[in-house]
Amino acid sequence: MTKEYGHYDDAAREYVITDPCTPWPWINYLGTEDFFGLISNTAGGYSFCKDAKFRRITRYRYNGVPMDAGGRYFYIKDGDTVWNPGWKPCKTPLDFYECRHGMNYTSIEGRKDGVTAKVLFFVPLKTWAEVQKLTLTNTSDKVKKLKLFSFQEWCLWNASTDMENFQRNFSTGEVEIDGSVIYHKTEYKERRNHYAYYSVNIPVQGFDTDRESFLGLYNGFDAPQAVLEGKPRNSVAHGWSPIASHYLEIELKPGESRDLIFVLGYVENAQDDKWESKGVMNKRMARETLSRLDTSAKVDVEFRKLNEYWNNLLSIFNVESGDERMDRTVNIWNQYQCMITFCFSRSASFFESGIGRGMGFRDSNQDLIGFVHQIPERARERIIDIASTQFADGGCYHQYQPLTKRGNDGIGGGFNDDPMWLIFGVCGYLRETGDFSILDEPVPFDNVPGSEKSLFEHLTISFDHVINNLGPHGLPLIGRADWNDCLNLNCFSNDPDESFQTTENKTEGSKAESLMIAGLFVFSGRDYVELCLQLGKNVEADRAQKHIDDMIAAVEKYGWDGDWFLRAYDYYGRKVGSHENEEGQIFIESNGWCTMAGIGLKEGLCDKALDSVKERLDSEHGIVLNNPAFTRYYIEYGEISSYPAGYKENAGIFCHNNPWVMIGETVRGNGKAAMEYWHKICPAYIKDQTLHKVEPYVYSQMVAGKDAFRPGEGKNSWLTGTAAWNWYTITQFILGIKPTYNGLEIDPCISPDMKEYKITRKFRGATYQIEIKNPNGSMCGLQKLLVNGKEIAGNIIPIFSEGSLVHVTAVLQ
Ligand code: BGC
Ligand code: NOJ
Repeated sequence: MTKEYGHYDDAAREYVITDPCTPWPWINYLGTEDFFGLISNTAGGYSFCKDAKFRRITRYRYNGVPMDAGGRYFYIKDGDTVWNPGWKPCKTPLDFYECRHGMNYTSIEGRKDGVTAKVLFFVPLKTWAEVQKLTLTNTSDKVKKLKLFSFQEWCLWNASTDMENFQRNFSTGEVEIDGSVIYHKTEYKERRNHYAYYSVNIPVQGFDTDRESFLGLYNGFDAPQAVLEGKPRNSVAHGWSPIASHYLEIELKPGESRDLIFVLGYVENAQDDKWESKGVMNKRMARETLSRLDTSAKVDVEFRKLNEYWNNLLSIFNVESGDERMDRTVNIWNQYQCMITFCFSRSASFFESGIGRGMGFRDSNQDLIGFVHQIPERARERIIDIASTQFADGGCYHQYQPLTKRGNDGIGGGFNDDPMWLIFGVCGYLRETGDFSILDEPVPFDNVPGSEKSLFEHLTISFDHVINNLGPHGLPLIGRADWNDCLNLNCFSNDPDESFQTTENKTEGSKAESLMIAGLFVFSGRDYVELCLQLGKNVEADRAQKHIDDMIAAVEKYGWDGDWFLRAYDYYGRKVGSHENEEGQIFIESNGWCTMAGIGLKEGLCDKALDSVKERLDSEHGIVLNNPAFTRYYIEYGEISSYPAGYKENAGIFCHNNPWVMIGETVRGNGKAAMEYWHKICPAYIKDQTLHKVEPYVYSQMVAGKDAFRPGEGKNSWLTGTAAWNWYTITQFILGIKPTYNGLEIDPCISPDMKEYKITRKFRGATYQIEIKNPNGSMCGLQKLLVNGKEIAGNIIPIFSEGSLVHVTAVLQ
């Protein structure tokens, strides 16, 4: 038995960490909209509102030593002992420690010498503030006189300049102290109209707002001078590093328990309403929020509302499979991770600084697929935002900034898979909601007013962007890159100071074509055709279908390597991902997408490709991206060959694209293989938490591949398209519950040993209770479908009126 650092509590929908020394900080996310926080199992992390780069509220040091220093700290001084409920930063040994990560909340409990301190962290719905409810209990038989210090360090708003521009920053910091509320107002007197605050709901006996005064210049977070001496400095920050620390003297009788409510909040004032009087900020909105959260009873109500919100979200899709690992993944953690990736895209995790990247075009479209059943209205808004960053020729900004919703000039466009993802995302939205009105929404290009065309026209130009950019073999030109950001076929960089992501040293005359985009074009192009037919646009459907047929023919003619699909043609028109290559002979992406699209299914190409994937790419921990891994730098391939063998895009296990092969397996009806692949990468099935290293309750982008130094080690957890792709695959292609324009399609493709399972699915306002029976141990194909007791033809349950309860029994062949 390998060491475990925690376990699931499915009834509470929590992951319970019982050892603070996890192999890496295991984090959670607070907040559902606008106000967000990252919180580790030892209360590390930071908060921001709307944008992790531009509106960072608390400061964080990435890649620090020790790891994960800085956060929401409470110091308890009991006699000479100083300890923290989450063990860090003092690391005083605790008598008991437990961290429970739940749905948008975390609670951390520590016990020491007869005192229990439990902190519940959450962001109430529709609130720009984080609540920290600290419950102190005296479990001893003596009176306890405790000194309590809270601690938060302010970030000077722009998380990037906060780390760089010290010549200015060290002079700008400003605070206001008003009773138990500490306000952070750096730059408020000039262009900013926002401020932050940190409060406690009872009078304080002291405070600190200047970091150096509180910690002492030569002390770390683990030994603040003020805490060690048990004396706050009542410091008022002027420049340097402003912080917020409350000092409270708490006396607890034996058995007595007390709640203290701390609130970390953020406010935006109208420009002409910034001041109460000269130099004194208008604090009305902060006070309003605080008055909503100043008692335990009020906070408990808000917490229940958050729980209720998640009860509703998680009641939309529910499986009872008889395998608790599957159930907890599908019913809880995968859906939760989909919500988090929808909210954060790839911006802020313990692997993404929150500074570097905005929202990705392709990423956000994929995230939608995992989220749209939860809150379709937000998915709708997101679609319009994304489409508004498209160019008139169908190309797209690769990323946009969530605060401004503008395309990011730093990275620009030219990723030729991007346009097709819009079709993928919008069709997913339409199938779930049936809301065709979105197609008539006027959507600008590059956010330029006056340039609006309907969303449907955006889809047409997305489709056409591929056919207007075909290479010598009639396959899609790759542009800067396709899904694999690191296969940079036009980059040719010899300069370490150039970014692989933004550099193209050669484009003119490039013959670089992508088989991944070809597969995507066929797969999502069919969605476009189906949509056109749905809308009665038959001529357009015919036109599109012809291009799809041409693409299939081009793939069969020029994209087949004998035993698998080629990956690409390079700048010079040479094969990539062929047995002719020395390294990188076979890749997952093209084999995933072309088999998903069923290209050459009848001719046996899919079977051969999937068998080759099994033979050459599969490993104990999942399917690697390519094989053999690159062992030297190939200037004509770019970043992919910059990574050491077995890591990231160079033969790492991308949990994001393993599902493409799983879907490919379902296309050929092999549910057993699909599920075996899923078990390898699904976190609930992880065998060795120490080896896996990152959180065992969420997918990570990458697990080190078979060529790596430590195969099986996970990295880049949380923010990855992996969440949505696994959700899409397990629910729609394996368990086989597919939303369609005309109803719910039942089309399972499972392992023969799954004898029955039940699914509750809310769809277009009705609730479907679906029982799937597999008496003969088959993998796919329905023998019978009963809807409310009556057998129906085909495998699509029609749409029922809102509020209906529909009983469905499906029997496999
Ligand atoms: C990473 C990719 C990522 C890209 C863009 C590369 O360094 O390996 O996974 O998509 O950067 O951020
Ligand atoms: C991460 C990026 O967010 C995503 O857009 C990309 O497709 C993958 N890495 C693969 O490179």
